[in-house]
Amino acid sequence: MKIEFPKDFWWGAATSGPQSEGRFNKQHANVFDHWYEIEPEAFYDQVGPDTASNFYNSYKQDIAMMKEIGLNSFRTSIQWSRLIDDLEEGTVNEDAVRFYNAVIDECLAQGIRPVMNLLHFDLPVELQEKHGGWESKHVVELFAKFASQCFHLFGDRVTDWFTFNEPLVIVDGAYLYQFHYPNIVDGKKAVQVAYNITLASAKAIAAYREINTNPDGRIGIVLNLTPSYPATNSPEDLAAAHFANLWMNDLFLGASTKGQFPQELVSILEKDGVLWESTDDEMRLIETNTIDVLGVNFYHPNRVKQPSISSNSLAVDWMPTKYFDDYEMPGRRMNVDKGWEIYPKALHDIALNIRDNYDNIPWFVSENGMGVSREERYLNEEGVIEDDYRIQFIQEHLYWVAKGIEEGSNCFGYHLWTPIDCWSWKNAYRNRYGFISNNIHTQVKTIKKSGHWFKKVAEENQFDM
Ligand code: NOJ
Repeated sequence: MKIEFPKDFWWGAATSGPQSEGRFNKQHANVFDHWYEIEPEAFYDQVGPDTASNFYNSYKQDIAMMKEIGLNSFRTSIQWSRLIDDLEEGTVNEDAVRFYNAVIDECLAQGIRPVMNLLHFDLPVELQEKHGGWESKHVVELFAKFASQCFHLFGDRVTDWFTFNEPLVIVDGAYLYQFHYPNIVDGKKAVQVAYNITLASAKAIAAYREINTNPDGRIGIVLNLTPSYPATNSPEDLAAAHFANLWMNDLFLGASTKGQFPQELVSILEKDGVLWESTDDEMRLIETNTIDVLGVNFYHPNRVKQPSISSNSLAVDWMPTKYFDDYEMPGRRMNVDKGWEIYPKALHDIALNIRDNYDNIPWFVSENGMGVSREERYLNEEGVIEDDYRIQFIQEHLYWVAKGIEEGSNCFGYHLWTPIDCWSWKNAYRNRYGFISNNIHTQVKTIKKSGHWFKKVAEENQFDM
């Protein structure tokens, strides 16, 4: 069967500044740099972000390798903690400007579209300690300043901008489930942070509308969408899935595409006494600064059931899990290494949801991928990792993307997480996702079988399966 894609489809891969560059020559520590400094044992094998994949020094070779595997687009992020010298004033660091200019120019010279994101979990830690991070509307203002600098400096050549990567993960990790510094557990703060990040994104978009003079320029947000499926068709399980979708998907989707938070969710949060504090001016700003384009990160679906009694008697005042429990569906197809379910059809559900409920906004798969531990198990005699499981994973997901496009969904690209194996937060280098492997001791990088396969797909704009 031939799976074909529209003309000019984006074939690419994504990483982020903090996960690839290494800490070299940075002005500030971000929340993860700091967490690693104070508690290295919280990180897999105690490996921190210091060298990461050395992109700061090897960006030219790395981009050349991306070219070699056929990528026509590449997303990374500009590190706030690198670009800005004085966080209050928003003054820029000239070394950092030179570095990001060089990266952008190198991509363009290789015919690779640079796609730039602004915040990939990497808040400068001073802003967390002094102001409470995303709990603070002052930090929202500082983010808009940083964003404005990026648009002024790089907007002549970067046409595709994203404000945040996976804002829900900041809410979940830093304020609910303790996998991002500062590991607070506080439902009310979590809800406020969700709102403040939405506001920060809208403020950055407002700045972009003022500053951008590039006629091809557009701006969006990258959301991790995890469709929630009920364990059974009982009204209780259906209600659990409905709430999970409201919280995990519709909250940021609604706010960023329509400028409105889902009314039903707002009513629930209000009734529970945890609704965010907002002003009419802020709400107007959110309403008038919606996105042009959406990035969708998709890894796995969510299976849920009605909450058990124990999750109703929560340790803290409010948690979203008041309304649903995770459900381990028997027989689901798992990626053994990662413990994540594989369910490619969810991408089709996402495609149709965007088509039918979110104005069919232009979108792309901004991350999808399979993390595998001890991947050197799959090395062949030539020293190449034979990652057929990844090829199959990508094929199956692309199959459902193509079907969604055929049915009218406005999807224009697919990015794998990630081009080159990179550092992944608490998991460090445990799970490898890349088209290109990276020996973290020698920094020798080698194209995997999937990278060679992808080159052909990108060249032909189709594949057989
Ligand atoms: C999504 C995040 O954007 C990225 O930073 C992370 O490394 C991958 N998922 C893999 O977990």
